[in-house]
Amino acid sequence: MNLPGAPPKVSLPGVKNVIAVASGKGGVGKSTVATNLALALSMLGRRVGLLDADIYGPSIPIMMGVDQTFDPNLTQFPLERHGIKLMSIGFLVKPETAMIWRGPMVHKYITVFLTQVSWDQLDYLVIDLPPGTGDAQLTLTQTAPLSGAIIVTTPQDVSLIDARKGLEMFRQVRVPILGIVENMSYFIGDGGKRYEIFRHGGGKKLAQETGVPFLGEIPIDPAIAECGDTGDPIVHKLPDNPVSKTYLTLASAVSAEVAKLGTPGELPTLQL
Ligand SMILES: Nc1ncnc2c1ncn2[C@@H]1O[C@H](COP(=O)(O)OP(=O)(O)OP(=O)(O)O)[C@@H](O)[C@H]1O
Ligand SMILES: [Mg+2]
Repeated sequence: MNLPGAPPKVSLPGVKNVIAVASGKGGVGKSTVATNLALALSMLGRRVGLLDADIYGPSIPIMMGVDQTFDPNLTQFPLERHGIKLMSIGFLVKPETAMIWRGPMVHKYITVFLTQVSWDQLDYLVIDLPPGTGDAQLTLTQTAPLSGAIIVTTPQDVSLIDARKGLEMFRQVRVPILGIVENMSYFIGDGGKRYEIFRHGGGKKLAQETGVPFLGEIPIDPAIAECGDTGDPIVHKLPDNPVSKTYLTLASAVSAEVAKLGTPGELPTLQL
């Protein structure tokens, strides 16, 4: 449903589930989680699209290895890389170009990206949101026909405070919270020794306190950053890496939560 005074929601008849990946705080790994989650859902046999809604700082072009800009002719989008469909403002303007747009412009672009890009038939459209809980994020959550939202946090308190704000924003606009993901949860060093660099368990605790599902923990691993920086995310580049298995488990958990929402188009959950 839409709240009074909110911009009209667009309709995406061919897309079964639209999932926002969000956080209150910047730099916690939303884009990395969104990208690897999208690829993991695709590896589980789903048809997947990834929309970079971070018009202020798009990351998907770099993470998915698209290092060129295109004419503003929307018929050529979405692009397809590593088996998933993609759209980002970074395909139209160089990602380093500063975008200074207020809510109405954000609304316009997101509407165009949702409706004039031929997403066709998808099981999941994953939307990577910009950090924060301001005007732009609110506009995005009210424009896209979201099935649910995933909140990404790191374990330490400063991130958790902002994650809670992000979570409350979705609650206020009545978007179901699919759950919380703790990113940079732990580090496995040489010899298998485990280090909890930013502490550990804050994500699960926040999930308990707010009564939402806890979807899983992703470790800190330099390979995650390296694969993202070189345009071939770890789930795709190194599918047998233990980290990739954690993303696959996450994708399965997300799929299970979506099924619980009773979305008519959800496929039966796959067991890993
Ligand atoms: N689990 C991880 N292990 C190692 N590096 C990671 C991990 N998750 C993310 N990173 C790295 O941390 C940096 C920030 O990640 P990312 O861009 O995904 O965050 P973000 O929340 O989308 O940021 P922003 O708020 O700016 O959109 C990137 O360099 C990324 O490669
Ligand atoms: Mg990002």
